[in-house]
Amino acid sequence: MTKHILVTGGAGYIGSHVVRKLIDNGYTVSILDNLINGNKESVPSEVAFYKIDLGDISELRKLFDENNFDAVMHFAAFIEAGVSMKKPAEFFANNCINGSYLLNEMLRHGVKKIIFSSTAAVYGNPIGNKIKEDHPLNPVNHYGRTKLIFEELLRMYKESYDLEYIALRYFNASGADESAEIGEDHDPETHLIPLVLKTVLGERENIKIFGTDYGTPDGTCVRDYIHVNDLANAHILALERLFKNGESDVFNLGNGKGFSVEQVIDSAKKITGKDFKVIKTNRRKGDPAVLVADSTKARDILKWNPKYTSIDDIIKTAWRWHKKHPNGYNN
Ligand code: UFG
Repeated sequence: MTKHILVTGGAGYIGSHVVRKLIDNGYTVSILDNLINGNKESVPSEVAFYKIDLGDISELRKLFDENNFDAVMHFAAFIEAGVSMKKPAEFFANNCINGSYLLNEMLRHGVKKIIFSSTAAVYGNPIGNKIKEDHPLNPVNHYGRTKLIFEELLRMYKESYDLEYIALRYFNASGADESAEIGEDHDPETHLIPLVLKTVLGERENIKIFGTDYGTPDGTCVRDYIHVNDLANAHILALERLFKNGESDVFNLGNGKGFSVEQVIDSAKKITGKDFKVIKTNRRKGDPAVLVADSTKARDILKWNPKYTSIDDIIKTAWRWHKKHPNGYNN
């Protein structure tokens, strides 16, 4: 019997890549997505799709009543750190309260395995160089706080209801599937790599560098860019671990290598062969200077081995997607 996985937020950027890997690995997949940020166009035809908001308990219950899920992958959430500072109530309601409805329905129906999309934002300003999972958890934005609250809820439900979970803390998800059929399409877009590539395509006049006076080699912020398909592979490994009755746990997912904003821009110029206008401007609020993962734990325990270790290779795949879909899923 193939295992049936419910993927919430499966029409989103990371969710859509994971859905394809699940199908490739022989799983039956159902997607729940309210399409506020997801794109129906990213959903493969063989997948059952349910346009449901997690806050709609009766629809959620019906979905669980009518299906026998073996596990859940939970991506559905608000993700913009900046927006979270203006809308904490909405973030708490969606990421925590609605997420708790999902957990409650799972338990009501005896579904006790969940993979959760967490984030490096749970750490806040890093102490030291590479961040390990035991680094203090001091998020500096409400987005990170809601993800941390949900992680805590998972720990509570594990202790009291035997829910088994793996929380995956992503660093900077980037790139696109090699097919260029799915990729990153946020509205509004705030992430560096898509914004740089939209500048190359002439959709934007320039790219702004937010801060050139950080204590980094070139003064711009350093991030750990990890390819979305490497993230997707980690989800499959985490799921297999839960099905083998492995321990509930938390893992960082990053390359362990940092690239500065300037290095990303230089790489984009090289890959696309095009020059574009770069404006150096002030720091963006809430940006730590450096965020780089120590993912030794995921490598050792999940046997995860990211393939896209160079920023050029990651940007190549993102460029293919953006060139083919200059208006995202709208064309
Ligand atoms: N940046 C610019 N100009 C831009 C956009 C971004 O200079 O136009 C800079 C940012 O200041 C930052 C870097 O590029 O230094 C990366 O910014 P992103 O917005 O692409 O990503 P963040 O590092 O801010 O955040 C992302 C996710 C978070 C997650 C975090 C984990 O959006 O949800 O990675 O590392 F928590």
